[in-house]
Amino acid sequence: MGAPPCTCRHVFLLLLLQLLLVAPWQAGRATQALNFTRQDFPRDFVFGAGTSSYQYEGAVDEDGRSPSIWDTFTHAGKMPDKSTGDLGADGYHKYKEDVQLMGDTGLEAYRFSISWSRLIPRGRGPVNPKGLEYYNNVVNELVKRGIEVHVTLYHLDFPQILEDEYHGWLSPRVVEDFTAYADVCFREFGDRVKHWTTLDEPNVISIAAYDSGAFPPGRCSPPFGIVSCTEGNSTVEPYLVGHNSILAHTAAVKLYREKYQATQKGVIGMNIYSFWNYPFSQSPADLAATKRSLDFMIGWIVNPLVYGDYPEIMKKVVVYVSDRSSSADSGLRDYNADIAATFRFSKSDPPSGQFIPYNMPIDPQGLQLMLEYLADTYNNVPVYVQENGKFLFSLCLNIECYGCCRNGANVKGYFVWSFLDVFELLAGYYTRYGLYHVDFQDPELPRQPKLSALWYSKFLRYEAGINIESMVDSDASTNAEQ
Ligand SMILES: *[C@@H]1O[C@H](CO)[C@@H](O)[C@H](O)[C@H]1NC(C)=O
Ligand SMILES: *[C@@H]1O[C@H](CO)[C@@H](O)[C@H](O)[C@H]1NC(C)=O
Repeated sequence: MGAPPCTCRHVFLLLLLQLLLVAPWQAGRATQALNFTRQDFPRDFVFGAGTSSYQYEGAVDEDGRSPSIWDTFTHAGKMPDKSTGDLGADGYHKYKEDVQLMGDTGLEAYRFSISWSRLIPRGRGPVNPKGLEYYNNVVNELVKRGIEVHVTLYHLDFPQILEDEYHGWLSPRVVEDFTAYADVCFREFGDRVKHWTTLDEPNVISIAAYDSGAFPPGRCSPPFGIVSCTEGNSTVEPYLVGHNSILAHTAAVKLYREKYQATQKGVIGMNIYSFWNYPFSQSPADLAATKRSLDFMIGWIVNPLVYGDYPEIMKKVVVYVSDRSSSADSGLRDYNADIAATFRFSKSDPPSGQFIPYNMPIDPQGLQLMLEYLADTYNNVPVYVQENGKFLFSLCLNIECYGCCRNGANVKGYFVWSFLDVFELLAGYYTRYGLYHVDFQDPELPRQPKLSALWYSKFLRYEAGINIESMVDSDASTNAEQ
């Protein structure tokens, strides 16, 4: 473990960030000036924002893209508001303008995902030249503006054609196809892309898509589903999917390390969904329950990557994990993980009829505790906070790494979710996480900075002393039209 990367000054200033931003700047609050800036973070710490392919691009049937399971799902009217990602934020056509906005905002990095079915419409085999061209254009545009490119290979939008062929992540066949797809991405973009994430949130997707059935492909079985599913087995399938995700990640990482890393010199990791759980009391039973919840949420995926096996408690409780752990063992032990953690906190109430409870509290302390836990539990593994945000109104930058810096956690970067309003997987266009507001009623989909974009920009441009109250009006007017 290296020395903590932050100085005491960072410790102090990050604490301030929490205090000021946890209470959003709503009318009536005392004037508060932010007297710290990006300069107070380590130089090699990176600040960015993100989007994902299905949520951002739109153009779902243009230029040879084939449907993903999210197209099928939304077209079957499965979203609470019956929306689809057909248009998204029209990033397929507006990426140039958006990268310019990123540059103007002062973003240091942009995290986006590649649509597998746009790049390889049949799931395997021939590469779609138009898809290749699009992602090359995006990457080149970012490089031109000096914005670090962080690419996620898979952000939930599995090619429908492979889902039909072998039930996607339920089948070990996914490992070979995913690795071949990853190979194309490393080969085509790896000269300019140095930060790769294999999979987005396999821990929560296994549950959401194969236990509760709320996400595509919508599989579950009674009494576990929260929707009615025609197929599935909630007892077994989440663990199969988790297992195949680990194998696919591992195979792609192995490929990258053996074939590309020496020349391309990038890093590669996986994205894990996480939020902190507090013990109900300090009783041994409650403390054990808290640890158990962390093992089931994070250890499920990360323990095999770091230690070569599932957490003991999972092997004890879940027969389908213990059956499979031996095969995980030999394959995974060699690859230490570069884990990317994802944190999303939101506060507002969901629309009525929304079936997924997601009005989580904003909890900067929880983020700090999580980062410390990851450092302590997984050998100080490098971590990027890849998604953190709050929907509607003012975005809360609850960066809370002062404690983790102090305690030596190896946090490398922070990405706001999202750069601009996009189609949200939980609630369509109802929830707006963007730094930039998108008017989805206007066919031009104009982008307009929210207060958060202005704040982030000033923060990144080293401008201290930003008076929050003076910024409220502009944000309130943006908010009013939503
Ligand atoms: C920043 O502002 C806070 C109060 O808003 C104050 O307590 C603190 O001393 C200031 N820090 C610096 C470095 O100016
Ligand atoms: C799920 O699979 C397990 C193992 O094959 C089986 O015992 C169980 O009955 C299945 N449950 C359902 C609902 O099909």
